Amino acid sequence: MVTITLDKSKLNGRIAVLMGGHSAERDVSLQSGQAVLAVFEQHNADVIAIDPAHRDLLDAIREENIAHVFIALHGRGGEDGILQGCLEKMGVSYTGSGVLASALALDKMRCKQLWQGMELPTADFQVLDADSDWSAVVERLGETVIVKPVNEGSSLGMSKSVGAEQLRESYVSASQYDEVVIAERWLAGEEFTVAILDDKALPVIKLETDRGFYDYEAKYVSDSTRYICPCGLEEDIERQMQDVALKAYHSLGCEGWARVDLMTDADGNLFLLEVNTVPGMTSHSLVPMAAKVQGYSFSDLVMSIFNLSVAK
Ligand SMILES: Nc1ncnc2c1ncn2[C@@H]1O[C@H](COP(=O)(O)OP(=O)(O)O)[C@@H](O)[C@H]1O
Ligand SMILES: [Mg+2]
Repeated sequence: MVTITLDKSKLNGRIAVLMGGHSAERDVSLQSGQAVLAVFEQHNADVIAIDPAHRDLLDAIREENIAHVFIALHGRGGEDGILQGCLEKMGVSYTGSGVLASALALDKMRCKQLWQGMELPTADFQVLDADSDWSAVVERLGETVIVKPVNEGSSLGMSKSVGAEQLRESYVSASQYDEVVIAERWLAGEEFTVAILDDKALPVIKLETDRGFYDYEAKYVSDSTRYICPCGLEEDIERQMQDVALKAYHSLGCEGWARVDLMTDADGNLFLLEVNTVPGMTSHSLVPMAAKVQGYSFSDLVMSIFNLSVAK
C-alpha cells in the first residue's frame, strides 16, 4: 500500500480547495471539493474551502493569504485556463494542468484538430452551424452521429441523432450550451477511461451503461452504470490504450493528473474522445477508482496530486 502525506515543510502558506462555482457542473464540483477538503482536514492542514459562486475568488485568495490551491472546479471558470492564468499571476500554486493545456482540453474541437494533425486516433467530425447542409453531414459521417457543444462537460447538451432531420434538432439543443457545436461519427464499440497521475497511466476502467450512451443520467444518477477495473482487456491491449491516453495527455501539455476518455468502434479500433484536466473527485469517481486498483487510497491520491503541484 502507498501512503502519501502532506509535506508541510514545502508549504508557503494556507491552502484553499476551490469548489462549486458557476458552471453547469457545480453540483459535482461541490461533491468533489468536499471529499478533497476532508482529506486536507484529516492531515491537519491549514485549509479552507472557497466557492466562487459565494465570494469573489481572487479577493478571497488575497484576503485569506492563500499560497496553494487544489482546484476541484469542473468546466468553465475552473478547468478552462482562465483561473490558471490568474493564479500564475498571483504566484499561487495550483493542482493540475497550466493555462494552455487547460484551455485546449476544454475545447473538444481544437483537441480533435490537434490529434488529427499528430495522427492520434479520434473519430471524424464536422463543425455545425445553423446553415449546415444536414444531409451532406450525414452523408460524410454516417446516419448516426453524436452532437456535442465543444466547451461543455458531463455530457450536457449532447445527443445521439439518426438522419438529417434529427441532426438539425440535436444541433439546436446543443447550441443552447455553446456557440461551437460539432457532430462526430458514432462509435458503436466499448467505452474506456484512463486516469493519468504524475505522467503515468493508471489501470484502465471500462464503462458500461444500459442507456444509449454515457449521458448525464448514466454518470450521476443511474445505479445501473457499471465500472470495471481491472477492465479485463488483454495486457498488451490495455498497455496500448494507456499509451494512446498518455500521448493525448502530452499532446496538450497536461501536468499532474488528468483523465482521458476513449471508445472503440464496431471493429475494435480505438479513438480518443477527450481529456479532462479536472476530473471528478467524489468518493465514487473514476480517477479514485483506478488509483485504488493501483494501491492508492483516496487520501494518497489527493496528496500526490497536491504535492506535485507544490513541487512544480
Ligand atoms: N463518437 C461517439 N460515439 C458514440 N458515443 C460517444 C461518442 N463521443 C462521445 N460519446 C458518448 O458521450 C459521452 C460523453 O462524451 P465526451 O466526449 O467524453 O464528453 P463529456 O465532456 O460530456 O464527458 C461519452 O462518455 C460516450 O458515452
Ligand atoms: Mg467524457
